[in-house]
Amino acid sequence: MKIKVYNKKIPYIVIDDWYTDTELKSIWSEIDFYTNGRDLKDVLRADDTIVARDNDTNKSLAESYRWYPNAYYNSNQTSMSPIFRLSKKLGDDELHNVFKDVYPWYNMFLSTNRSTPMVSYYEGGDYYKPHYDSFMYTQLIWLTRKPKLWTDGNLYVEPIEHKKEKILFKNNRSVIFPSMMKHSVDPIQWKEKPKESGYGRYTITYFMYHEPTYEIPEDTK
Ligand SMILES: [Fe+2]
Repeated sequence: MKIKVYNKKIPYIVIDDWYTDTELKSIWSEIDFYTNGRDLKDVLRADDTIVARDNDTNKSLAESYRWYPNAYYNSNQTSMSPIFRLSKKLGDDELHNVFKDVYPWYNMFLSTNRSTPMVSYYEGGDYYKPHYDSFMYTQLIWLTRKPKLWTDGNLYVEPIEHKKEKILFKNNRSVIFPSMMKHSVDPIQWKEKPKESGYGRYTITYFMYHEPTYEIPEDTK
């Protein structure tokens, strides 16, 4: 992993080579399963889901396909899912070590104890307009098949109000940031429209949050 912290007013972390080659192989098996499991025209579009919406028009700010692994597995089956299993990488020591001195943002990172995954898939013209997420931290992991047949689809973050910074799309690159920071994805463009689906831009998102746990002694329940 190559980790760099951008310690702005709101910090964010860019990590290249997030997955090892072995992890990538298993992650792609799950992505292929979702992509090929049913015709793309029958896959949820962002607009059909709980998505960030324009306050005035209520129109979805995102155009992309989406899969919610939580909806497909019960709690005993998640160990079958590389996407669930590899969420443990968020506890990686190297990652925590580079972030631990970023006060007070690391405290909030450390306070998260749960994450919920989402897989999104962008084809030509798909995008995500500026929005924020309703969680504590957001992790994005970007993937694309080779050969890469599209351009753009970069991420813009707003660590300082009205000052956008561009983070270039790169295969197997991850970005972690506080969920309330504004972020957006510019529309992807096909350089060459593929005959098969699955050649666009994938994002695995982990929404990280804190779930309170209570241990109540038996005799006081
Ligand atoms: Fe988001």
